[in-house]
Amino acid sequence: MPLVSMNEFLPKAKANKFAVGQFNMNNLEFAQAIVDAAIEENAPIIYGVSEGALKYMGIEYTVAIAEAAAKKSGLPIALHLDHGSSFEIAMKCIRAGFSSVMFDGSHYSLEDNIRLTKEVVRAARAMGVSVEGELGTIGGVEDDISVDEEHASLAKPEEAIRFYEETGVDCLAIAVGTAHGMYKGEPKIHYDIIQKVVDAIPVPVVLHGGSGVPDEAIRLSIQAGVGKINVNTENQVACTNTIREVLAANPSAYDPRKYLTPAREAMKAVVKEKIRLFGSSNQA
Ligand code: 13P
Repeated sequence: MPLVSMNEFLPKAKANKFAVGQFNMNNLEFAQAIVDAAIEENAPIIYGVSEGALKYMGIEYTVAIAEAAAKKSGLPIALHLDHGSSFEIAMKCIRAGFSSVMFDGSHYSLEDNIRLTKEVVRAARAMGVSVEGELGTIGGVEDDISVDEEHASLAKPEEAIRFYEETGVDCLAIAVGTAHGMYKGEPKIHYDIIQKVVDAIPVPVVLHGGSGVPDEAIRLSIQAGVGKINVNTENQVACTNTIREVLAANPSAYDPRKYLTPAREAMKAVVKEKIRLFGSSNQA
């Protein structure tokens, strides 16, 4: 199957109250672990690629790897730019073969965020590519983007509804209390904000910062109307911890396959567990 837009599965996710996982792709092993988990669970998935990951992997390799995974698996897979910072980067990704893009204008004023997101939606729609917008500021660290607690701000439901109505995005990331990276304590998720927004718009809300959120909080978020959940850090931790353990036990190892194979298995286990928790098994 070729790569698909998120509209292949997000409307069904919203209607049937499950969430599709966006798992960030950082290299070939991440991509393989994610798709192998999805094959075993027969689940739709989204490969998220940040601008930092794009620089690291190169756009041609990124698209080729995702296309190979979609072809091999036969699953509906979207290749999605995560936190795109400009119209130009969104267009560059679409031209290269991405089937979905996020435009993150959350650091602009509401008016500018709406204006800029609309431009991306207009161009992407003409190409059959789905678009995610963002409102409110999600805290934490992701790649080169760092937002401290003080500057993280929750989304206002009435602004989120207006943002949807004026931009027509296919899903909407709103800041509801989660953060990128690992949490020090437990995140306090504002389910009421999710519910208010979801009830007023036809598309699902996206939960960023899915790593380290307790299972029950994930279930309640999905019940409230979250239809897409992003996970990156938990896979990074599983990968790196496994490599550390293997190298500690075999200090003379030098063949990367000796530590990358178990690292890939560890990430696959994380992704399988998340797919089950999100309720997206057998939804492909
Ligand atoms: P985590 O790294 O906290 O899982 O967040 C991922 C994310 O939201 C990507 O946009």
